[in-house]
Amino acid sequence: MTSIVLIGFMGTGKSAVGRVLARSLNVPHIDTDTEIERVAGRTIPEIFTAEGEAAFRLRETAALASLAAPSFPLVLSTGGGTPLRAENAALLKQIGTVVWLQVTSEAILARVGSSLSERPLLTGSDSPLHLIENLLRERSPRYAALADYTLDTTDCAEAAEAADRVLSLLSLPLPV
Ligand code: S3P
Repeated sequence: MTSIVLIGFMGTGKSAVGRVLARSLNVPHIDTDTEIERVAGRTIPEIFTAEGEAAFRLRETAALASLAAPSFPLVLSTGGGTPLRAENAALLKQIGTVVWLQVTSEAILARVGSSLSERPLLTGSDSPLHLIENLLRERSPRYAALADYTLDTTDCAEAAEAADRVLSLLSLPLPV
């Protein structure tokens, strides 16, 4: 089995789906945001405030570089902006099969609405929906260029349902 890399916008379930997938496949789960927070000893909003977005992006690249070509299969959940740097996109391709999780802008807002303060790029606007729509429009071509597979999970109420769809898409066995 090759590793699975989940990409997509904030709130599309990359972390939750990745956790379930890794458990089903009995492989390690790595989440770049969690890894960055561990190494930095700060939360993501703290990193954005203290160091700025550019420094956060460098931390993303460093986290991926430390993983590239792992000797064992794993499931990797990325941050919504991770694939944007060309260098990161190349590293993600090296790590495994890339699956783009898609959710509509409205559903993204419904999912992240209660945790906006944890998402520095979505705070400070009267209309987070417009922010989401604009960022999604800007980023979608990058996600599309990198993805080996694309999966719309807007109608998945549970992460386990989306994880089962990823397994089916990749012709991997469903959990019993
Ligand atoms: C970001 C997404 C976040 C986190 C950071 C920046 C982005 O991760 O990496 O706030 O640029 O889209 P999630 O997609 O897991 O929320």
